[in-house]
Amino acid sequence: MPNTTPTRALYMLFGGTGDLALRKLYPAIFNLYKKGSLSTHFALVGLSRKELTDEEFRAKIIDSIAAETENQAQAEEFASHFYWKSHDVTNLDHYQELGKIADELDKKYETNGNRIFYVSMAPRFFGIVAKNLKDQNVLSENGGFNRLVIEKPFGRDFASAKELNDDLTSAFNENQIYRIDHYLGKETTQAIPVLRFGNPMIDAIWNQNYIKDVQITLAESLGVEDRAGYYDTAGALRDMIQNHTLQIVSYLAMEQPNSFIDTDIRREKVKVLESMKIYDEQGVKDNFVRGQYGAGDNTPEYRQENGVPEDSNNNTYAAGKIIFDNPRWGKTPFYIRSGKKLADKTGRIDIEFKKPLVDIFAKGTNQPAELQSNVLTLLIDPKIGISLDINTKNSDQGFHTETVDLNYLQSDDRAAEVPLPYERLFHDILKGDGTYFASWPEVAAAWKFIDPVQKLWDNTKGDFPNYKSGSMGPQAADDLLARDGNAWYFPNK
Ligand code: BG6
Repeated sequence: MPNTTPTRALYMLFGGTGDLALRKLYPAIFNLYKKGSLSTHFALVGLSRKELTDEEFRAKIIDSIAAETENQAQAEEFASHFYWKSHDVTNLDHYQELGKIADELDKKYETNGNRIFYVSMAPRFFGIVAKNLKDQNVLSENGGFNRLVIEKPFGRDFASAKELNDDLTSAFNENQIYRIDHYLGKETTQAIPVLRFGNPMIDAIWNQNYIKDVQITLAESLGVEDRAGYYDTAGALRDMIQNHTLQIVSYLAMEQPNSFIDTDIRREKVKVLESMKIYDEQGVKDNFVRGQYGAGDNTPEYRQENGVPEDSNNNTYAAGKIIFDNPRWGKTPFYIRSGKKLADKTGRIDIEFKKPLVDIFAKGTNQPAELQSNVLTLLIDPKIGISLDINTKNSDQGFHTETVDLNYLQSDDRAAEVPLPYERLFHDILKGDGTYFASWPEVAAAWKFIDPVQKLWDNTKGDFPNYKSGSMGPQAADDLLARDGNAWYFPNK
């Protein structure tokens, strides 16, 4: 029997009243608590420069978990484990004080000295926090574990990501660092390895001989909202492609790992990410498309949104083609795209298989060929599901073929039970399981692929706006596939 006793630990959360903590983290931790997956031997110290009493902090926690609360007494018991400390991340004395609080809470809650440091702050503080935690002896030294959790973004390019990583690894080992990518906590992402390596039938055809192209769409209908300060310096390429999209690509394209443990999986993910062809300037022009949304029916264009400069050159849409320099995928393009203010909130993967070489049902008749490509679709958001288009005989008079859709859609009731991404990821951190976190070599390979694209886009003015809000993005993204004789499967088919 695996050991399922929940892990005891003390959490220190930098950015303790931030939006992410209140909206996502506390509800996720509370769900784990309700399910018995969080040890009752836990305490959480919330940190930021704000002055709050423990009571005020606990009231915020109770508010933030309201949607998950069925039993008020349980919510209050949960919140009683929360403590507040006003903390300036550059003030060394504050770390000394934190160390003392941590020692006291370790004793009070018998946490076995296990410590999880969760940094959910502006990225410029990630390195400083890690270094000061180590230098000021806040790390556990009495046999417990120390784990550092880092939110995105992990750098702005390879050079800054490396600098950040060097800072982090001067205080923590790679296997103590958990780089959060919430797309890795999503059900469909986690299901990819099972689909591939749990079904020999699928595994056998998962290569360039059978797969014509792979399409990944992470589309959002919302615009920049109130995040212009961050988003205008990031854009779709950094915000969604470098991390979430390329992580999904790695699970789709990697070779079979020796086992399903994190070290084996990471090895294969790195290998495949490092085999992406890195484009020179002309390659970027030929294989990447950027966009910025124009006005919609009753909505402003991006440059008119709150906080966005009127001459912003930022991309709110990015699409591209990945070519792998490896024997499995050399001839199969992976098309990726993500953008804001698109027609639909849709995360999906469409895998298009090759058609039969000859359509014998049309051959020798005057009928046009009717057989279509088989397409396997994995739905990530908002529905979770899987479907397969196959050709079959149409049962009408005459002999025709038609494509039908074999479809598994998770029911709303079942989907409501699926743990939230942060819940899964937090649980993994507690277990010390790095399977669904991005390792440094993966992040590095992703930046090396993205850097030339970002560089060209930074150095040249985009012809913006170039897509209407509520559309599926710029025409150039359709042309990108058309040049290869392909077309976006969604939403056209
Ligand atoms: C975040 C991005 O990582 O992912 C946001 O910073 C984006 O800009 C969000 O809206 C999308 O996540 P989800 O889970 O809603 O698809």
